[in-house]
Amino acid sequence: MTGALQGATAGLYASARAPGKIILAGEHFVVLGAPAVSMAVNLHAFATAQATPDGELKVEANIPLSILGRGERASRPDTKELLEPFRLAARESLDSLERRKAGVSIEVECKIPIGAGLGSSAATAVAIIAATSRAYGAKLDRPRICQIAFGPESYLHGSPSGVDQATSTYGGLIQFSKPDKVKRLRLKRMPSILVCDTNVHRSTKGLVGSVVKRARSDSEAFRSRLSEVSEISASVVRALRRGDDVELGELMNRNHELLVQIGVSHPMLDKLVRAAREAGAFGAKMTGAGGGGCMIALCEDEEEAFRIGGVLRRRGGSPYLVSLDPAGVVSSTNGTVLK
Ligand code: MEV
Repeated sequence: MTGALQGATAGLYASARAPGKIILAGEHFVVLGAPAVSMAVNLHAFATAQATPDGELKVEANIPLSILGRGERASRPDTKELLEPFRLAARESLDSLERRKAGVSIEVECKIPIGAGLGSSAATAVAIIAATSRAYGAKLDRPRICQIAFGPESYLHGSPSGVDQATSTYGGLIQFSKPDKVKRLRLKRMPSILVCDTNVHRSTKGLVGSVVKRARSDSEAFRSRLSEVSEISASVVRALRRGDDVELGELMNRNHELLVQIGVSHPMLDKLVRAAREAGAFGAKMTGAGGGGCMIALCEDEEEAFRIGGVLRRRGGSPYLVSLDPAGVVSSTNGTVLK
């Protein structure tokens, strides 16, 4: 970058917003090569970035730590662990712009529950990467943002597939395969999905590690589950396109059973999944890394989702209705407030 451009962009202020996600099919198995189907939702992480001439990298985060560990205090990530991947996201964006000595001051706000399987860390990293690069006058394309997000996501989760940052970056509904294959799905009618938090939160890293270990030690059974999940993902895409909620619900149920078999569910997840089905949902499953976190239920319409949410609340869950975020990451410079 030229000296003139460096001068012109010094002090520039930028902001970005990136959505969280739910996974309709294929979590965990996506790390081992199966496709996943995921949807960006209207819960967001926000980042503002100001280019600073002093070379310092400063991150301040307004993260709802209170949401963590209501069920399992021991699993509470510490503040340093939360902030380090965000520093990495900023540093790697600057490196990718060949601004290795540049500084940036970042403020982060995350409205996505943390450690709940809704992609809060990926969304925050994506927002930071977009804001940091805009603060230096560059608008990175989506594949580049996804690629940079591997650094912070790997720091936090070990060996992520990339599905979280891809969903957050592209938005909408996608079919994703490792390492970076993204197929966008456009539907005439979106499914009505209820999300419910178990309020038990665990680290994704440990869960993904346990699945990879299990896949190695139990390779025969794992291969057959992997191919079944690949078929489920393909069938989920077809059911979504046809608007066939009955079929989609059955596929979600079966996907949940396979996740139970590989040991990533939790009694509270299973309880809420059962309760949602009994209350009339077409299907229900855990979503994301599991071990607690959130489950999703496919409902007939918003009214039904509201009613089933009430049932799940009485069983100890925290339900919320979500809708599709079609935009993915968005960013702006100099003062436009993103909501
Ligand atoms: C986490 O949202 C999804 C997992 O499959 C991990 C990953 O794909 O990186 C559990």
